[in-house]
Amino acid sequence: MKSLLITFLLALAVFRAGAIDLPTMGWSSWNTFAININDSLIMSQADAAVKYGLSDVGYRYINIDDGFFGGRDKASGTLLIHPTRFPRGMKPVVDYIHALGLKAGIYSDAGANTCGNWANGDTIARGVGMLDHEDIDADLFFRRLGFDFIKIDFCGGNPEANTGRLDLDPRERYERIAQAIANVGRKDVRMNVCRWNYPGTWVNKVALSWRTTGDIDCSWKSVKRIVKENLYLSAYCGGGHYNDMDMLEVGRTLTQEEDKTHFGMWCIMSSPLLIGCDMRNIRPETLALLKNTELIALNQDPLGLQAYVCRHDAGTYVLVKDVEQYQGLSRAVAFYNPTDAPVKMSVAFADIQLAGTIAVRDLFEHQAVKLRKGDAQLVVEVPAHGCRIYKVTGTERLQRVRYEAEEAYLQCYQELYNPKAVGTAYYEEDASCSGGAKVANIGLRPENDLQWRNIYVKEGGDYQLRIRLVNADEKSTIYAKVNDLDGVKITAADINAGIVTIATTLRAGDNLVRLSNSKALMPEVDYVEVVKK
Ligand code: GLA
Repeated sequence: MKSLLITFLLALAVFRAGAIDLPTMGWSSWNTFAININDSLIMSQADAAVKYGLSDVGYRYINIDDGFFGGRDKASGTLLIHPTRFPRGMKPVVDYIHALGLKAGIYSDAGANTCGNWANGDTIARGVGMLDHEDIDADLFFRRLGFDFIKIDFCGGNPEANTGRLDLDPRERYERIAQAIANVGRKDVRMNVCRWNYPGTWVNKVALSWRTTGDIDCSWKSVKRIVKENLYLSAYCGGGHYNDMDMLEVGRTLTQEEDKTHFGMWCIMSSPLLIGCDMRNIRPETLALLKNTELIALNQDPLGLQAYVCRHDAGTYVLVKDVEQYQGLSRAVAFYNPTDAPVKMSVAFADIQLAGTIAVRDLFEHQAVKLRKGDAQLVVEVPAHGCRIYKVTGTERLQRVRYEAEEAYLQCYQELYNPKAVGTAYYEEDASCSGGAKVANIGLRPENDLQWRNIYVKEGGDYQLRIRLVNADEKSTIYAKVNDLDGVKITAADINAGIVTIATTLRAGDNLVRLSNSKALMPEVDYVEVVKK
């Protein structure tokens, strides 16, 4: 019996060691309260998370955003806590949250002042950012106070948002802070980078999640903008690291349809889910939505994937991702209609690589969708600003043929600087392209490449890759490399009506296909098709 137990515990430990972190779920003070926070408010939100069963379905982080700062002790540099908002300091608040079985989160800035100091006139918060105080602050937050999460903003490093006009390098700053956190010796602290745009692929090694847009506000326009800016970022979500679409505005002033769309899209795109309303007087319909465990399961799916666009028609999008098992028989599918009119949307099961006997479950309505025998597609009426999300299960998984460039990983991808000026590849909408988008500005440097990292085939062997290029001309040169095989050089003579065909060998499972040109810009890329020879 005892040895059985030990074997079980060992197996559990191995399983857990291989498991990735899932998107952070909890509550954050900013959307409703901004800097007007205090200890009893924070503790009462923690109480509400428990009382309404939100913590039971995963919302465990109670995050204190900007507004708690009380300056710094001049002699020692130690960070002080706001004397009237948190008169007993932070320790009792953190202890209270922990005693409820929850986790506690805090906020700082990578520069010298916070955004609340700059944008909200919180004068006491000057000089409280982590610049030149990385180790002392990390020690305070994570060892002495016991916080479990930190969001790190960038007003103090952004010359437009700090009094000293400091213009700091985000990568240097966040790497330095990550090191300070690591030095505390805790392995469980979660770090969120808040640089308001995807900052570059370095961030995947530094943080669990990173904001990809400017601040959300409680309007449909804002929700729609944020979804749009995240549509082509699925390649950067993986291995337990996530694009953060910002804190939820659910349960405030959006319509119920918009709230559903907002929550559903955050779920399927694997964004952190941080509730932003006042949980003490949460409405029943908001509670039901936030506690939809079938949608939460997509967000907390162990594969940790972000859905990608698999169909784009005028103004609407269908997104899909694997759930439960990579390349398995179940996929989550969202029909997203951000337009101002209802739209009949559809997707063929074959286009989401499912076949055989198909079962469809509506994750908002918690019921099966009736299909007629032989139905080859799912047709859905989606209201204006609406979204419908399903789990589709087949008895057969088809092999995908076309992979869009807008799902590919670009090693130099970043959104902080003008990509043309700094020479980094970017995604761009182009109605003439499949999927409605392409990748432009690849080349000039070896690392400014395009990588499809998950070209999946069931059987290894000889395949043809057919790549569609957009603006090839007589000078076009591309280096194509598959896994660790020798690369091939493609010149204009190999490009026929925009298509180049490469014969190659693929192995069973995921394959890497990389396109680059270290000296010149290469043509823009639309897609690759993978065909068995
Ligand atoms: C920035 C962040 C917000 C919030 C405020 C606090 O604007 O992007 O999410 O943290 O600062 O001042």
